[in-house]
Amino acid sequence: MIIPREPQSSAAVAEHYDELDRFYRDIWGEHVHHGLWTTGRETPDGAVEALIAHLADALALVHGQHVCDVGCGYGATAEWLARHHGVRVTGVTLSAAQIGRADQRVVGSPRLRFLRQDWLANTFEDGAFDHVIAIESSEHMPDKQRFFDEAYRTLKPGGRLAIYAWLARDRSRSWEERLLLEPICREGRLPGMGTEAEYRAWAEKAGFDMDGFEDLSRRVRRTWSLCAGRVATKLLTRPDYRRYLLDARSKNRVFALSLPRIWLAYRTGSMRYGLLTAHKPSDRA
Ligand SMILES: C[S@@+](CC[C@H](N)C(=O)[O-])C[C@H]1O[C@@H](n2cnc3c(N)ncnc32)[C@H](O)[C@@H]1O
Repeated sequence: MIIPREPQSSAAVAEHYDELDRFYRDIWGEHVHHGLWTTGRETPDGAVEALIAHLADALALVHGQHVCDVGCGYGATAEWLARHHGVRVTGVTLSAAQIGRADQRVVGSPRLRFLRQDWLANTFEDGAFDHVIAIESSEHMPDKQRFFDEAYRTLKPGGRLAIYAWLARDRSRSWEERLLLEPICREGRLPGMGTEAEYRAWAEKAGFDMDGFEDLSRRVRRTWSLCAGRVATKLLTRPDYRRYLLDARSKNRVFALSLPRIWLAYRTGSMRYGLLTAHKPSDRA
């Protein structure tokens, strides 16, 4: 696992999303995750929704089932799943700014519930969910084994897990770690970036049976040229963006450095993006 040279706490993760809230909503929108391109002709918004649809297909969601969205961001994935698949969704996030916006969705959809809660110290009962999903949140968890153990505990027997994760390539070289992977973890508040092999091992140690792993790196990487372009446009046209970047009190301005690094990390294969699916055996409590 790639570990940043400065430890990253859950409080730092919450602060990252709270401080960068307006920038995330400007640049990414209500979905704070990659897009998925299949034909290459998808619009950016279409690609973002395609990523959720791809996960929903992998889980084979059934109307009325209960899904937990671990690291739910602004709740847009939860709302999409409830609308398109008729599932109930409980979402958790560390960020006060995100929960404020997510809660606004509950008014229009009684199938949604959002809690500001640390997944690693969650209050859910054993066997509460039919599915647990985590879209780009496991990277932020300091204890990856506990992340999987909690998913296992809170799933019903036979329940399914689906995770989209930023991954380090197996056996990364020292220059990749020094110039790309370690700074990406530090600047983006990731306490650790695992490899595919480590994710599989954590899932299996928790008790899951693996269903699959899909490498989607090439299909998602366009996200970063789009984001870099949007940030560049904002910097040229918006004084508040320039002020934020130039202000030494902006603790999370350092994340701007990660945009070109992540773009390059995908191009060099240093970073990967994958969908891991697994299930809790149906004979286990
Ligand atoms: C990259 S954002 C993804 C948000 C959302 N899944 C989406 O796709 O729009 C990462 C999310 O993980 C959440 N997160 C990180 N660590 C967490 C933890 N320990 N417990 C709950 N949420 C966490 C953050 O608060 C944030 O909402």
